[in-house]
Amino acid sequence: MIRDILIHPDPRLKKPCEQIAAPTAEIAQIAADMLETMYDAPGIGLAAPQIGVMKRLIVMDCIKDGTPEPMVLLNPEVTWSSEDLSTYEEGCLSIPDQYADVKRPAAVTVRWMALDGSAQERTFHGLWATCVQHEIDHLDGKLFIDYLGPLKRQMITRKMEKLKRERARS
Ligand code: NI
Repeated sequence: MIRDILIHPDPRLKKPCEQIAAPTAEIAQIAADMLETMYDAPGIGLAAPQIGVMKRLIVMDCIKDGTPEPMVLLNPEVTWSSEDLSTYEEGCLSIPDQYADVKRPAAVTVRWMALDGSAQERTFHGLWATCVQHEIDHLDGKLFIDYLGPLKRQMITRKMEKLKRERARS
């Protein structure tokens, strides 16, 4: 089922999310809905708080052309970050049509729990590294605009407030 994506500013996008004790059928259903919602948007990543579920769960697929590679990560945690940084122009499904350069570690190792309960670990590079860090930030109530200067951040926030007013009216 496609879920509504919360638009910034929203208090739920600023709050830290809870650890998931164990994968359940309910968590699997939320993950399936999140992937469907992400592909429909379309986007390359989505975090549970973006659909109002305050749990540490993210989905992503950074393959643009070729066989899709949907990933579901429960309780993802960065265990290593490269000293090398890289800059990507980031966007966010909760901040539609706004993009800005963000500098982050170029590679990160992430540990997480899969839907079958198994422990996983992988080192991500390139767009995958940026995406996984952006999505984990969501679980800590952090948005990519928090990396920008206050003026740019306020400008984007005002545009989003206006967008929400317009959507509420129509
Ligand atoms: Ni985002």
